[in-house]
Amino acid sequence: MRKNHTTKPLAENKHLLRWVEKMTDLCKPAAIHWVDGSEKENDALCAQMVRGGTFIKLNEKLWPGCHYARSDANDVARVEDRTYICSLSKDGAGPTNNWVNPFEMRKKLRGLFDGCMAGRTMFVLPYSMGPIGSPLSQIGVQLTDSPYVVVNMRIMARIGLPVFKEIDKAEKRVVPCMHTVGAPLAAGQKDVPWPCNKEKYIVHFPETREIWSYGSGYGGNALLGKKCFALRIASNMARDEGWMAEHMLILGVEDPKGEKTYVAAAFPSACGKTNFAMMIPPAPFTKKGWKIWTVGDDIAWIRPDAEGRLRAINPEAGFFGVAPGTSAKTNPSAMASLAKNTIFTNVGLTPEGGVWWEGMTDEPPAKLTDWGGQPWTPEIGKNTGAKAAHPNARFTAPASQCPTIDAAWENPNGVPISAIIFGGRRATTMPLVYQAFNWSTGVYVGATMGSEMTAAAAGTVGKVRRDPMAMLPFCGYHMGDYFRHWIGMQKLLSETPRIFHVNWFRKDANGKFLWPGFSENMRVLKWIVDRVRGRALGKETPIGWVPRFEDIDWTGMDFSKQTFDELQAFDRSLWRAEVMGHEELFVDLHDRLPKEMVYERELLICRM
Ligand code: GTP
Ligand code: SPV
Ligand code: MN
Repeated sequence: MRKNHTTKPLAENKHLLRWVEKMTDLCKPAAIHWVDGSEKENDALCAQMVRGGTFIKLNEKLWPGCHYARSDANDVARVEDRTYICSLSKDGAGPTNNWVNPFEMRKKLRGLFDGCMAGRTMFVLPYSMGPIGSPLSQIGVQLTDSPYVVVNMRIMARIGLPVFKEIDKAEKRVVPCMHTVGAPLAAGQKDVPWPCNKEKYIVHFPETREIWSYGSGYGGNALLGKKCFALRIASNMARDEGWMAEHMLILGVEDPKGEKTYVAAAFPSACGKTNFAMMIPPAPFTKKGWKIWTVGDDIAWIRPDAEGRLRAINPEAGFFGVAPGTSAKTNPSAMASLAKNTIFTNVGLTPEGGVWWEGMTDEPPAKLTDWGGQPWTPEIGKNTGAKAAHPNARFTAPASQCPTIDAAWENPNGVPISAIIFGGRRATTMPLVYQAFNWSTGVYVGATMGSEMTAAAAGTVGKVRRDPMAMLPFCGYHMGDYFRHWIGMQKLLSETPRIFHVNWFRKDANGKFLWPGFSENMRVLKWIVDRVRGRALGKETPIGWVPRFEDIDWTGMDFSKQTFDELQAFDRSLWRAEVMGHEELFVDLHDRLPKEMVYERELLICRM
């Protein structure tokens, strides 16, 4: 049987070799390919996918080095109801995670993975989350039968030979990650462009730090370094080791004096992290010397340094960004990042070999092929409501191509974090911005965050759900213990970051956004930075400190005090309902809820 290696093993680590051997016996691939991460290898894999129909090469003049993929209609987003935290005890996973007894789950997976790679090549894909060799980095090895995953991971993480070297050198503990699209090929069977399986399992074993993913080739289900490792497994490591793995962007604000203030912000999926991380300030701000620098757009690993200050790294190397709504107007830095060497999935394809999505330009192209492979015209769009791009269509682009990438983005020791911002997508109730009174109030604000659901995950779009710290789908253990960990972090710090809450999405009575958002968010961010540096005033309210109209820099913007008051309005009856929502979450978590959360809630009710 097999031993029909396409390529030689590229590592000597005995544990790694033994594991690959064992998994080969289980998955029964037709060939094994040790991924070196080279450009040559990447070109060959892309060419092979073009031949097989998974990829379409885009027009080299318009989109140099870019490829286009359409997924299966049943594989377009993360599947939260198929995502499991299989800790030894059910209580370890907590009520917000799906749990199955790990022994049962292993049995189930062994059945599913038996022969799952038949007729396919198994890639041995080593990756580092964080710069290779950084004390804050972690290593994983993903065995996958998806070349699409390999070329995406090459953008999203540091992969290949240098990582194998690191594994051999340090005898480093690696996180084993099993991945299959779950579509074995019988002898002579023709492959489809996007192989996947109706049945999906995204499984984490937190105690043994293992990931098993079955049936999907899309995004966070399949690029296992991202949500599975960097959040669900890493949150377990972080709790045990005294650091934090968070669903946060990281950015640096440079003020006119040239001083930089780094902030991290947790917004749920498709709620504006990428846009905020790459924001270009409005012209009058830029003229004065304000500038935003991007460190990361989705995940932050945060650790106290020797002085007790929090420092953060971006464990990723690329952006897996939401395409719809991204334009030269809303996010020119993202547009520049994705101009070359990018993979587009589930956007529209134009006749000249370009891409388009809703919101990319004011005028849609006269015709294109939509994400489902059907002809699309603006007319068809208008009449049927069909979209050129799936709402969760994504680009995979190298972070190094971002014009606003921060000089310190690969600093192995990370950047110092002075503020943490929480934010959700809320049509009502939540003001544009407020500042928590202190660390424990701030943890309460994050813990009780609510947001309307988006297309980033399968589910009911628009429904408000509690999404603590934007980690509801990503916390790899009991949410009550996670809050406890947040509270406990304060003891490790000599200086706590200030904590804020923002909402770019409040609507007026006619359902229109009250706030223009995007680059105008700079005005809010300036107030935040000024607060952190003790330069700005605010007003105390029951929920926290808020800016008065005159505390915001309105230069170059015509915004009425009346609309601002509407944006900032604190509505007692809406907040009453809001606090009931907090209670619902807390009831679920009650036996592990830190007492600080209960007291904070009581205090909030008293202030109201
Ligand atoms: P994930 O990659 O899923 O974690 O999403 P994200 O948090 O990075 O969200 P992203 O920045 O990609 O934005 C998601 C959607 O929100 C896009 O359609 C944006 O156009 C829109 N959006 C982002 N910022 C703003 C804003 O300030 N105001 C408004 N109205 N929409 C925004
Ligand atoms: C998210 O859903 O928060 C994402 C996209 O960043 S995915 O990688 O699919 O998780
Ligand atoms: Mn995300």
